[in-house]
Amino acid sequence: MSVHIQNTRMTTTRLRKMKEQGEKIAMLTSYDFTLTRLLDEAGIEMILVGDSASNIVCGNKYTLPITVDEMIFLTRGVVRAAEHALVVIDMPFGSYQVSEEQAVTNALKMIKESGADAVKLEGGEEILPAIRHMVKAGVPVMGHLGLTPQSVNQLGGYGLRAKDDAEATKLLHDAKLLDEAGCFAIVLEKIPSVLAKQVTDSVSCPTIGIGAGNQTDGQVLVLHDMLGLNEGFKPKFLRQFAQLGETVKGAVGEYISAVKDQSFPSDQESY
Ligand code: KIV
Repeated sequence: MSVHIQNTRMTTTRLRKMKEQGEKIAMLTSYDFTLTRLLDEAGIEMILVGDSASNIVCGNKYTLPITVDEMIFLTRGVVRAAEHALVVIDMPFGSYQVSEEQAVTNALKMIKESGADAVKLEGGEEILPAIRHMVKAGVPVMGHLGLTPQSVNQLGGYGLRAKDDAEATKLLHDAKLLDEAGCFAIVLEKIPSVLAKQVTDSVSCPTIGIGAGNQTDGQVLVLHDMLGLNEGFKPKFLRQFAQLGETVKGAVGEYISAVKDQSFPSDQESY
């Protein structure tokens, strides 16, 4: 199957049109120049420099420790490589919860210094004033509801969210508030697919699901998970589209053998 490659940059307006026309949106995370260039050439429409970089790039147990400046550093490389995809930078834990002023100041700094097109932050009604201020300041904002990993210590783990009626009702209410406040899209993470469809039908902006079934307007996965580089991580919602962990270990094993038996470098590979 051939992939349609955009010859213009993706915009938030275009994403909304895709929802209206029923065209699904493909998003992945990325954290560096080299892999982003491949994603962009393959035709990915949105790239999230997720705070999952805290786990994937930095090796932390949680997303909580990563800082604004670390996110900016990683995002610069992604932005340099993304010619077509819309790039979203995640606002880290502690960078938007203190006050509306703090949230807007950090959002503007992150956009200006990283070159990203938009920011993403986690939460509903409780962060609505911050979202309103950002949108008013001209910052495109992506919301994130359901499993919000920055709240792992409050939620008590990474389990399925909104299983009961009360949480599902609040999530639907929050999604409508984010939509009205001007979010250009909302991530729905690890919630029942029936609820994800209900949210998707109730908001005008696109919903992007991860572990939320196939009725959202688009999907996002963590790149290293879907490429099979994060070998031990196999939750139900994850499909590994490649087993690059095996490929990398095989290649490195061959390299080690070739160094040991001196078959590398050969005469042709020497000066
Ligand atoms: O940080 C991240 O990678 C995310 C995605 C899982 C949506 O927020």
